[in-house]
Amino acid sequence: MKMWGGRFGKEASEEFQVFSSSISEDCRLAPYEIKCLKAWSEVLMEAGILSQEEKLEIDEALEAILEELKRGEANFIPSDEDIHTYIERRLIELVGLVGGKIRTGRSRNDQVTTSFRMLVMEECSGIEDEIVGVVRALITQAEKNIDIAIPGQTHLQPAQPVLAAHALMAFVHMLERDRNRVRLARKSAAVLPLGSGALAGTTLKIDRDALARKLGFERACENSIDGVSDRDFALDILYALSSLMVHLSRLAEQMVIWSSAEVGLVELDDSWSSGSSLMPQKKNPDCFELIRGKAGRVIGELVCLLAVMKGLPLSYNRDMQEDKHPVFDAIDTVRSSLTALKGTIGTLKFDESRAKELLSEGYLTATDLAEYLTEKGIDFPSAHRLVGEFVSSLIAEGKNFSEVTAKDLRDFSGDFDEEALRRLDPRQSIQRRKSKGGTSKEQVLHDIEESLKNIS
Ligand code: ARG
Repeated sequence: MKMWGGRFGKEASEEFQVFSSSISEDCRLAPYEIKCLKAWSEVLMEAGILSQEEKLEIDEALEAILEELKRGEANFIPSDEDIHTYIERRLIELVGLVGGKIRTGRSRNDQVTTSFRMLVMEECSGIEDEIVGVVRALITQAEKNIDIAIPGQTHLQPAQPVLAAHALMAFVHMLERDRNRVRLARKSAAVLPLGSGALAGTTLKIDRDALARKLGFERACENSIDGVSDRDFALDILYALSSLMVHLSRLAEQMVIWSSAEVGLVELDDSWSSGSSLMPQKKNPDCFELIRGKAGRVIGELVCLLAVMKGLPLSYNRDMQEDKHPVFDAIDTVRSSLTALKGTIGTLKFDESRAKELLSEGYLTATDLAEYLTEKGIDFPSAHRLVGEFVSSLIAEGKNFSEVTAKDLRDFSGDFDEEALRRLDPRQSIQRRKSKGGTSKEQVLHDIEESLKNIS
């Protein structure tokens, strides 16, 4: 059964029906659609279009339709263009023509975006919780390894010593910002389009704000033309998820590097790594690589919808049917990535002795030594040059800071004394960075404590 036909001389061709159908994708909207339709049947009863008995009969049938769909017993036919068409056809099959009254004053244009927004709101809440799961796994690792120091890097080159926990907490902050973006995306979806009709509004006298609250929205949209054609909420969640995936990908990349044989700072649990079909010795970080790859996919979904939307005139255009695939795919990709990351991060192990080895290389405390000279009144550029020359002489000798003696320092410059030798110790370098956000244990513990408050 088509929703139109009066002005058509022919049925739609089979090929066109197949081409234009979105039901394989939008059947995912069914639970929200049913909820909306039940709220709408009440609107129609209040408007005197449905009797109380008719409303009850319709609501019961709607529940039965949802159960059928959940059990996988729904029987879609080629003319079921989308989930809205299917539900109406099935409703009429179950209760007779009275079922068709549910379409009064309403269009698929306001209906589809209402159900879609409801799904986005629910998914945002679920994703927020899953982000918290990864944040907890990171914080647990930070707490467990609070005394492990590692070489911090810039440009992927040895820079300064930091606590491993400080590095892990950097990712916690990225994810906290993502959580906030997901929360904002939820808010952006919480505006009700229902009651916008096809584009011009509805003739039914309804309190759309009350309807909004009943369906879990914050308010009704202000403009029916915008209401049926606004997909900013879909772009907002896609941006939030893209940003999240960028951060998950950076975290994954960090772990690929840390777990590489050359670095060896962390070891992945066997249960979260892969082997090779050919090389028996291999243990690969596939899980992290997949997350890095899937970030590209989610960014693609954002770009996809931006491109779909950019040339659309007012108001609803069928192009918009292409809005659901990117959002559904991004949601599923993000959720599976978060689950995988929670497992991988939760089970990996830091190698403390390897961390110590790495810390003794790379002249990580050169800055501390230069700063020590400034305490003695030397200007920083001169101190920088002197320490640079000292490092260069050590490189020529093949010596690390850990092998330097007080005599080596004195021989190089009269400004270097016993205290200068202490400043070469990576531990003191870390402990002296006590101002807010620094890598000292106190600061990192404070950061952990505050971050835990955010998620409790
Ligand atoms: N399946 C359509 C979509 O997802 C529903 C709205 C169709 N409206 C229309 N006027 N053809 O956008």
